[in-house]
Amino acid sequence: MLSKTLEKALNAQINYELTASYEYLAMATYFETKSLKGMAGWMHMQASEERAHARRLYEHVLDCGGNIVLDAIAKPNQKFTGVVDVFKKALKLEQGNTANIHKLFEQSVKGKHYPTQSVLQWFIDEQVEEEATINEILDLLSLAGDKGAALLALDAKLGGRGAAPAGSGE
Ligand code: FEO
Repeated sequence: MLSKTLEKALNAQINYELTASYEYLAMATYFETKSLKGMAGWMHMQASEERAHARRLYEHVLDCGGNIVLDAIAKPNQKFTGVVDVFKKALKLEQGNTANIHKLFEQSVKGKHYPTQSVLQWFIDEQVEEEATINEILDLLSLAGDKGAALLALDAKLGGRGAAPAGSGE
């Protein structure tokens, strides 16, 4: 059985994942308006992944006999100064999420809720991968620049992301 404290924290994490999905949709929209279809597609995939993460936690709460309490989703940022800025904001979003997941894990350890620890272990590993991927994109942007042929090459590379992303949970 979930404690009320852990149930509340898991519901807050569901909200964070859905908020992240909305933030990624805003980033996808920015790229759509710039006709950078590869990057837009990459961000749409991120948005789908975040929704899948929320669903994973949602199922966990229900499986553990907890209640789902849905909260409002905050308005996403839609102001970006360029391609690098978008990926920097994506990295910040993931770093915030990593901190949340770690805090949630600590709460599940304190509360001795082993099923939640098991589910969160997957999220801990996923966050390492998510941050590494965005750092790699930022490295490429810093090496090659964010204009002209280099930008178009990176757009094509990111557009090659498969239909079933790693860690989508689907
Ligand atoms: Fe749900 Fe991007 O981690």
